[in-house]
Amino acid sequence: MYRWPVKLKPNARFSTVCLHAGQVPDPSTGAIVTPIYQTSTYVQEGLGRHKGYEYARTQNPTRAALEGNLAAIESGQAAFAFASGMAATGAVASMLKAGDHVIVSDNVYGGTFRLFERVLSRYQLTFTYVDTADLVATRRAFTPATRLLFVETPSNPITRITDLAGAAALAHDHGARLAVDNTFASPCLQRPIEFGADLVVHSTTKYLNGHSDSVGGAVIATRDDDVEWLKFVQNAAGAILGPFDAWLVLRGTKTLPIRMAQHNANGMALAELVAAHPKVSRVYYPGLPDHPQHALASRQMKGFGGMLAFDLGSLESARRLLEGVSLMALAESLGGVETLISHPASMTHASVPAAHRTALGITDGLVRISAGIEDIDDLKEDLLQGLDKV
Ligand SMILES: Cc1ncc(COP(=O)(O)O)c(C=O)c1O
Repeated sequence: MYRWPVKLKPNARFSTVCLHAGQVPDPSTGAIVTPIYQTSTYVQEGLGRHKGYEYARTQNPTRAALEGNLAAIESGQAAFAFASGMAATGAVASMLKAGDHVIVSDNVYGGTFRLFERVLSRYQLTFTYVDTADLVATRRAFTPATRLLFVETPSNPITRITDLAGAAALAHDHGARLAVDNTFASPCLQRPIEFGADLVVHSTTKYLNGHSDSVGGAVIATRDDDVEWLKFVQNAAGAILGPFDAWLVLRGTKTLPIRMAQHNANGMALAELVAAHPKVSRVYYPGLPDHPQHALASRQMKGFGGMLAFDLGSLESARRLLEGVSLMALAESLGGVETLISHPASMTHASVPAAHRTALGITDGLVRISAGIEDIDDLKEDLLQGLDKV
């Protein structure tokens, strides 16, 4: 027994929950940080007698600590950590059966679109893509076979916002589940389960880990039957997060609130800079008052995040900026402490058909920035000198 068991009060605030949930001092040493249990198996005391751990695909104490932490910070009942965000989305899809229909945000992450269209459509599942920011269009897309509404908000990269409470009500009216990919916002800015979502998906690769040094994913669930299935399928399919990555993400969530505060501030400042720049034709950032869903974003989110996109009108102009910046790194991914700049049409969304991309506004001139936590004046200087080259 330890003198200092971390006991979170039910009314503990978000930052405190991020730091402590899921973790107790290590039972064998008292280590304050949950160790990396880098083991594949556990020695049993006798036949059928063990400490609750038998084989590391099924249970791992580092992963269990992370899962407890993620369940708490997303206001869920339980969380399950996977080898990547795509493996997490795949686990949600494993709840479906042949013949089921899914409604998906049309501006969903390109890899999600690829998984649904190129892999899962082979298993007699059907997918309809709609602008889930439009709840009337979303309602029309339901069929008697619809079992899942899969939403990404803010969407990547054009930051469309879906009304989470409205989407949850629609799904439940039709006997379907609402799953939300909350990667872009992070639970610091938005907790979909509090708006009625049944499932939350994360690429922990992004804000939750936050340091661009791990690939992982998670599903957070609220319903008993979903918790039971996800636990089963995590072990049965086996796409688990390894102990070192679990440890990295657990370290990341401790600083999530202070990192997000800086991501919010830098995202807003860069969005304001490009909005006022003569070479930029269009800006997508929910924190700007002229974003079409600014009011909804203000109600549903606690900050507007570090992701923004803007249109420079042509591929050549985008190329000049992408190759003209020096502090911002030209790279895929997002949500890390360092600022990244990318070209969605040829990078993150290359797997989305060109016509579909254009209809969404993902033009050849579109540039996306994941604002990091550097000093904002350095970021502004870098962006301005890059724009001078356009
Ligand atoms: C919104 C969103 N969801 C899911 C994923 C997939 O996550 P991962 O790359 O960890 O598989 C990504 C990756 O960029 C993403 O941006």
